[in-house]
Amino acid sequence: MFSVNGGTVTALQDISLTVRQGEFVSIIGSSGCGKSTLLRIIAGLETDYQGTAQFEGEPIRGTGLDRGVVFQEHRLFPWLTVRQNVAFGLGNSTSESDWESVDEHIDLVGLNGFEHAYPHQLSGGMAQRASIARALANRPRALLLDEPFGALDALTKIQMQEEVLRIWQKEKATMLLVTHDIDEAVFLGDQVIIMSNRPGTIKKIIPVDLPRPRDRGSYEFTQLRSAIYAEFFRQEDKPFAYAI
Ligand SMILES: Nc1ncnc2c1ncn2[C@@H]1O[C@H](COP(=O)(O)OP(=O)(O)OP(=O)(O)O)[C@@H](O)[C@H]1O
Ligand SMILES: [Mg+2]
Repeated sequence: MFSVNGGTVTALQDISLTVRQGEFVSIIGSSGCGKSTLLRIIAGLETDYQGTAQFEGEPIRGTGLDRGVVFQEHRLFPWLTVRQNVAFGLGNSTSESDWESVDEHIDLVGLNGFEHAYPHQLSGGMAQRASIARALANRPRALLLDEPFGALDALTKIQMQEEVLRIWQKEKATMLLVTHDIDEAVFLGDQVIIMSNRPGTIKKIIPVDLPRPRDRGSYEFTQLRSAIYAEFFRQEDKPFAYAI
């Protein structure tokens, strides 16, 4: 519940969601349905709500190094280099093994050669890779991705989706991806969660039982994408509310 202009807005209601360790979960829903709020609760950035949120059996009371977050905009510090930005979350006294993790993750996201570049010297996709490396440098148990590729062009987006898949397979972290892109949700997720309009509830959970790497042109993929598309649009009476 948020206070807005003297009134209140209920962002989420009756949400019950359990994510298994190591799972890749995609979350789709129309603009304003509470997707970011849900991720912020799991990240520990939002603490003023009714109900309980747990991570690995413990109540979530605030942010923690076990949960990394990647936002739609890269949020890198413009005055720090890629390497310094990636190291930023590790704290003041960066140890040798921390720097190893920094360099390993810069390598993992394909930014080697750009360690000493500043954010303004990077393309949008590269900056987003740097923010993914920053979120991963702490070796979080879960990565929370809030529309991380929303601002990227279609080709870069597909490339980034493939990289996230590779990173997930290597790091074995639990992934929660909020997206407006049904194709992306199906390409990446073990399951796709469809949220209803505000106040956001979980409308449907659709398992994606397709082998990886997934072929976006396959019959099974297109069938599932169409089914989710139909399910998604069925819920709304105001088509203009979508931000797809
Ligand atoms: N800090 C806040 N103060 C007041 N209201 C807020 C705040 N954060 C979110 N809200 C409200 O809660 C609702 C859900 O917002 P949220 O950002 O979670 O939506 P979203 O599903 O992520 O939308 P989008 O797809 O546009 O990013 C919206 O109505 C929004 O106005
Ligand atoms: Mg949002």
